[in-house]
Amino acid sequence: MPDAPTSSRREFVKVAGSAALGASLFPADALGQTPARRRYAIVGTGDRGSGMWGRDLVNRYPDLLEFVGLCDKNPKRAAVARDLIGVPNCPTFTNFDEMIEKAKPDLLMVTTVDGFHHEYIVKGLDRGIDVMTEKPMTTDEAKCQAVLDAEKRNHRKIVVTFNYRYAPAHQQMKEILLSNEIGKIVSVDFSWYLDVIHGADYFRRWHRLRENSGSLLVHKASHHFDLMNWWLGADPVEVSGSGGLQIYGRNGAFRGANCRTCPHTAGCRFYYDMTKDKRRMDLYARCEDVDGYYRDGCVFREDVNIFDTMSAIVKYSNGTTMNYALNAYMPYEGYRVAFNGEKGRLDVQSFERQPWDVADSHEIYVTKSFGKRTKVPMPKMTEGHGGGDDRMRDLIFKKTDAPEYMKLPDSRAGAMSCLTGIAIRNSIDQKKIVRLADLVKL
Ligand SMILES: NC(=O)c1ccc[n+]([C@@H]2O[C@H](COP(=O)([O-])OP(=O)(O)OC[C@H]3O[C@@H](n4cnc5c(N)ncnc54)[C@H](O)[C@@H]3O)[C@@H](O)[C@H]2O)c1
Repeated sequence: MPDAPTSSRREFVKVAGSAALGASLFPADALGQTPARRRYAIVGTGDRGSGMWGRDLVNRYPDLLEFVGLCDKNPKRAAVARDLIGVPNCPTFTNFDEMIEKAKPDLLMVTTVDGFHHEYIVKGLDRGIDVMTEKPMTTDEAKCQAVLDAEKRNHRKIVVTFNYRYAPAHQQMKEILLSNEIGKIVSVDFSWYLDVIHGADYFRRWHRLRENSGSLLVHKASHHFDLMNWWLGADPVEVSGSGGLQIYGRNGAFRGANCRTCPHTAGCRFYYDMTKDKRRMDLYARCEDVDGYYRDGCVFREDVNIFDTMSAIVKYSNGTTMNYALNAYMPYEGYRVAFNGEKGRLDVQSFERQPWDVADSHEIYVTKSFGKRTKVPMPKMTEGHGGGDDRMRDLIFKKTDAPEYMKLPDSRAGAMSCLTGIAIRNSIDQKKIVRLADLVKL
C-alpha cells in the first residue's frame, strides 16, 4: 500500500506554499495592476517556437500576449509557423534587428538552435527587452560569460525554461529531499536512458553537431544537471568525464543523406518515414530548399561529432558526489536516480517508453537505514513533460502562486546546468578534471 506523505513533508509544503514567486515576467505597476497584453516576439520558429511557445500560448493565454514578430533564418519556416500558430497578421522576419526595430516587442522568446541562443539573449537584453530562453541557455563558456555580462550590464533578469522541474514527480522528489527524511545526501547515482527512437532522433537533426548543440551533455543533459542542482540545492564544483560515439555516425555500415532519399531503407533499423507526419512535412520538408536542413537526416552521417555514450563524476558544493550516465541507444526510455543519504535512500525509476506494461510513470521509494521501505504515491502523468509544461507556463504568464522552491529558473540556474555539461565535454576532450570556477565568472 502506498504511504501518504509524512507530516513533516506536508507541513513544509504548506509553509513554503505561501512564499512569494521568485520572478515574474508580468510585473505589476505602481497600482498593482499588470499590463493587459504584452508585445511578444519569437526568434527560432521551428517545432518549439511554433508549438509550446506559439500555438499553445495563443490557445491558453489569448488575452495576455500580442504576437508582434516571428523571426527565423529560414523565411519559409517563419511563414509556415505563422500559419501553425494561427496569427495571420503577425509579421515575419529573417533579420532579428529589423524585427526588434519594427515590432518593438517587450518580451522575447529564444527558441533557435542552441548554439545561437546567446546572440539573441544578449541583443534582447541590450535593448531592454525581457528575455526567456529555451534550455540550454548556451553551449560554451565564452557564450555563457557573454549572457551573464549582458544581464549584469542591463540590470535585468532572464528566465530559462526548465520545464522538467515542473513535472509533479520532480516536485515530489524535491519535497522529499527538503523534508530531510533521508538526511544529508552523500552521493547520487543518476542514469538517463534515451531510446532508439528519441535518442536516435538527435543524430538525425542539427543536434548531431557540437557547434549546434554543444553535444548531448549540454543540449539534453542540461535538463538533468538543472534538476540535480535544484534537487540538491547545491552548485557543481568539479567534473571528470568520459564519452564515445559507439552506435551512430561513422559506426554505420551504410549511410545516405536523409531517409526520404535513401537506398538503404529496407535494411536500416533507424529508417524514419517523415512523410506520415504532416506537421513535420510542412515545417521542415517544405522549407528544406532554403537551408538544406533535413529533419529526417541519416543517423550514420560521417559528420556526427557528438557522443552517444557518456558518463561523468560531478562533485557538488555541499560535498555530494554524483555518478552520471547518459546513453542514447537504449531499448527503453526513462531514468533511474538514487539519492544516498545519511539516514536512508530515495530510489526513483521513471518510465517514459518501454516494451512492457507499467502501472505508473514513476516508482518512488524511500528506504530508511535500519528501517522500512515505503512507496511514495505519485500524481498521474499528463501531457507535456509530465504536466510540467503547463505548470511552468502558468507560472510565467498567469503568475500562479507557487512555493519559493518552484520559482522560475534564472540565468544562474541556466549557467550552472549548461556549464556542468560544458565542463564534462572539456574534461573528455582534455582528459583532465575541470573546475567550473575556471570556466566563467558568475
Ligand atoms: N525544454 C524542452 O523540453 C525542449 C524540447 C525541445 C526543444 N527544446 C529547445 O528548443 C529550441 C528549439 O528546438 P526545436 O526542437 O524547436 O528545433 P527546430 O529545429 O525545430 O527549430 C529551430 C529553429 O531555429 C532556426 N534557427 C537556427 N539558427 C538560427 C539563427 N541563427 N537565427 C534564427 N533562427 C535560427 C531554425 O531555422 C529552426 O526553425 C532548442 O534550443 C532546444 O534545445 C527544448
